[in-house]
Amino acid sequence: MRILAIETSCDETAAAVVADGRTILSNVISTQIAIHAPYGGVVPELASRHHLENVVPVLDQAMKDAGLAFSELDAVAVTQGPGLIGSLMVGVQAAKGIAFVHGKPLVPVHHIAGHIQAPFLAHGAIPFPSLALVVSGGHTHLYELPAEGVYVLRGKTRDDAAGEAFDKVAKLLGLGYPGGPVIDRLSKGANDRAHNFTVARVKDGSGDYSFSGLKTAVLYHVRREGIPPVADPANVPGDIRDLVASFQRAVVTALLRRLKIAAEDLRPRSLLLTGGVAANSLLRLEAKALADALGLPLFVPPIALSTDNAAMIGAAAFVAWRQGRRAGWDLDPDTHLPLA
Ligand code: KG4
Ligand code: ZN
Repeated sequence: MRILAIETSCDETAAAVVADGRTILSNVISTQIAIHAPYGGVVPELASRHHLENVVPVLDQAMKDAGLAFSELDAVAVTQGPGLIGSLMVGVQAAKGIAFVHGKPLVPVHHIAGHIQAPFLAHGAIPFPSLALVVSGGHTHLYELPAEGVYVLRGKTRDDAAGEAFDKVAKLLGLGYPGGPVIDRLSKGANDRAHNFTVARVKDGSGDYSFSGLKTAVLYHVRREGIPPVADPANVPGDIRDLVASFQRAVVTALLRRLKIAAEDLRPRSLLLTGGVAANSLLRLEAKALADALGLPLFVPPIALSTDNAAMIGAAAFVAWRQGRRAGWDLDPDTHLPLA
């Protein structure tokens, strides 16, 4: 079952061919980081314009790398949502065009189902029930997975996503975009106990996260101390490195505190960590320590499959296909698509 998958929900134009949800035949990504970096975040209008320019070359490359003709595909899959409307639109139209012209079935995929499938794509069989922490620039969600393709939401952010908090704090300090990798790097060897930042606990039993208070705490600190934006990103002062390290520790502590409570409550047989923020080295380290303490295996995809990519969409499409999911030619993107 060879599926061509297209992902354009945010700022990566990506296409991949995945066989049987397991074997990556090609995986092409055109990133727009350099385009959005001057603005400290993704500019939706620029994103859709660049998707339009890139989608055909990226698709061609994915087919070429896979060594296949469109006629040899079994299905075309696309991220239907959530994401930026103008960005999603480009992928959905491209997928519809290819599927229609070549007479292939069209499979709609939820972006988070893609992130959740990434560890399966990387590691093969993973024991169910599982508990997945999905942390990216757009999402911070905790899902229980009783079985393949079944998603039960156990917690989500009320405001900022974890990656968004990284990006906003980096922007505030003039550290560049995306903020996560920069803060991760600057935190190495810094004093992450220099500031006692905490993340508010949502105490209504919902298991939800909230990161906007932490971002505001960093903002107030910067204002109070009159810290100017970093002049030379190649030479960041020690007190700023301590500041971002303390921020990073607070985010990681909050993410894993909820994961631990949910794991003790739901008693899964495995833990998954996925999404762009799963690239964070402290989070990886601490999640492994937590998994060991709970006696559970932890599955984290390699970074190339953690951040947005189309291979994970191809893997999730195989699951969706087996559940009988198909789209008609009237498929529309849905920025608030529910995962069900
Ligand atoms: O999954 P992704 O590529 O796109 C979304 O679906 O949002 O995630 C991008 C996010 C950005 O916010 C970026 O700052 C964050 O992932 N990120 C990291 C790291 N690498 C990427 N956050 C913390 N530490 C990292 N090493
Ligand atoms: Zn994503």
